[in-house]
Amino acid sequence: MGYRCMLWLFLLCLIADQGLIKGANGLACNWGTRSTHPLPANIVVKLLKENGFDKVKLFEADPPALKALGNSGIQVMLGIPNEFLAPLAGSVQFAVNWVQQNVSNYISRYGVDIRHVAVGNEPFLKTYKDKFLQTTFPALQNIQAALIKAGLGRQVKVTVPLNADVYQTDSGLPSGGNFRSDIHDLMISIIKFLSDNNSPLTINIYPFLSLYADPNFPVDYAFFSGSAAPIVDGSITYTNVFEANFDTLISALEKNGFSSMPVIVGEVGWPTDGDPHANVEYARRFNQGLVSRILAGQGTPRRQTPPDVYIFGLIDEDNKSIDPGNFERHWGIFYYDGTLKYQLNLGNGKSLIPAKGVRYLQRQWCVMSPSASLSDPNLANSINYACSYSDCTSLGYGSTCGQLDARNNASYAFNAYYQTMDQRRGACSFSNNLSVLTNVDPSQGTCRFGIMIDLGKHETPPKRSLAGRNQNSVLGLMALFLALIFIVCSA
Ligand SMILES: *[C@@H]1O[C@H](CO)[C@@H](O)[C@H](O)[C@H]1NC(C)=O
Ligand SMILES: *[C@@H]1O[C@H](CO)[C@@H](O)[C@H](O)[C@H]1NC(C)=O
Ligand SMILES: *[C@@H]1O[C@H](CO)[C@@H](O)[C@H](O)[C@H]1NC(C)=O
Ligand SMILES: *[C@@H]1O[C@H](CO)[C@@H](O)[C@H](O)[C@H]1NC(C)=O
Repeated sequence: MGYRCMLWLFLLCLIADQGLIKGANGLACNWGTRSTHPLPANIVVKLLKENGFDKVKLFEADPPALKALGNSGIQVMLGIPNEFLAPLAGSVQFAVNWVQQNVSNYISRYGVDIRHVAVGNEPFLKTYKDKFLQTTFPALQNIQAALIKAGLGRQVKVTVPLNADVYQTDSGLPSGGNFRSDIHDLMISIIKFLSDNNSPLTINIYPFLSLYADPNFPVDYAFFSGSAAPIVDGSITYTNVFEANFDTLISALEKNGFSSMPVIVGEVGWPTDGDPHANVEYARRFNQGLVSRILAGQGTPRRQTPPDVYIFGLIDEDNKSIDPGNFERHWGIFYYDGTLKYQLNLGNGKSLIPAKGVRYLQRQWCVMSPSASLSDPNLANSINYACSYSDCTSLGYGSTCGQLDARNNASYAFNAYYQTMDQRRGACSFSNNLSVLTNVDPSQGTCRFGIMIDLGKHETPPKRSLAGRNQNSVLGLMALFLALIFIVCSA
């Protein structure tokens, strides 16, 4: 290889390394693991990488997820659930152990690129009342002390993901923003602490919830393409609630002397089921608007530098609490198994790529027996039983399966149970004779009757179906790279 050619090669590597080839702005998302059948962690990490996500947020130190993220090139924000706040606040030693076991260990032994520890999850949410007011700040301080003790003070930053309800505006305009009066002083103490430690503030913003909570909320204003009902705030005109909400926070920070405080958007997204406003069309519209801003590096009127934005979420979680609403289990850009819900334009001609190599249970469904009667006295109890152990949130009003007739409705519930129970023998015998197995997919229209992911929990090994081919993409890329060098060098 000639000297000129080596130079070219060097330059190529340099460009590739700077990310200039793959498009400079990476995406970030939340990876929740509250599923009865979590998509295998190595498949999720591949899914993240293939779709250009270079930052991920976890809600807890899930060992399979962390191990799979080792040496992946993906930066990790690692969450600590709220139930840990009290013990963390009460004991520095507890924090030292937590950091040792859940941070240091994964950095040194597995090569996980942990950049942030997120202490608690929306601990000051109004609906929690005062439950975590006393413990959050001391827990944050103890984790910070533990990180310093572990020699990770520079590398790993602390933060507290807060719901946007920690600030408000009395004037109704973003410029009137300030922190909620009941937690104002606490917020200032926490922000000062974060600022002193070069750490960011993390805020979750949910335009969907604005719409969900207020039937009179102008739908258009929830999306980035909104144009109706703009809000005029001095010289600024806001056409979407995301910018207005974010700038309300920026105003609050400015008012309290933290105008250059770095801010991360920890969660933002749109669900596809479980509510009339939660559907594929709205979710695609919202997330496309969001992704386009991120890729364009767009800030808001009050803050030109764009924040890191973690989309919520990557995949659906069928075991999440539905206290906030049925939509909670449907925030994924992808379904539970990594298949596509809708397409997104990711710039440079790229679009979403579904998960590969997922193993499924056999292609069979449990449905209401054709010979069973709708007036069978055991039917209602059987449906209730099925739905108490599996996810029936798609059956609700305005949801994807909300239009089913009573018979198909029962079938949906029976199948949800059967799949969640790994198609086990006896899991399709409601009241002995109300249900039967079928090989014909009962899905209709938008209503999907799923087949569960095979986690090896069933009794008889079914025929393995491999969705999608194995990836030869790495080899392909290498070949392309070599061909390029050949062309360059022979020129
Ligand atoms: C689902 O969540 C509940 C409550 O958090 C938990 O007790 C249960 O073990 C979970 N089930 C599965 C299969 O993960
Ligand atoms: C590490 O984190 C997990 C999940 O958050 C938790 O169950 C475990 O107790 C933690 N380890 C320590 C030593 O606190
Ligand atoms: C189902 O079984 C019950 C008793 O378990 C019986 O009374 C009923 O007639 C059976 N129905 C059918 C359709 O076989
Ligand atoms: C379908 O099942 C759900 C869940 O059990 C129930 O709330 C709903 O009323 C049922 N709808 C019909 C048409 O039977």
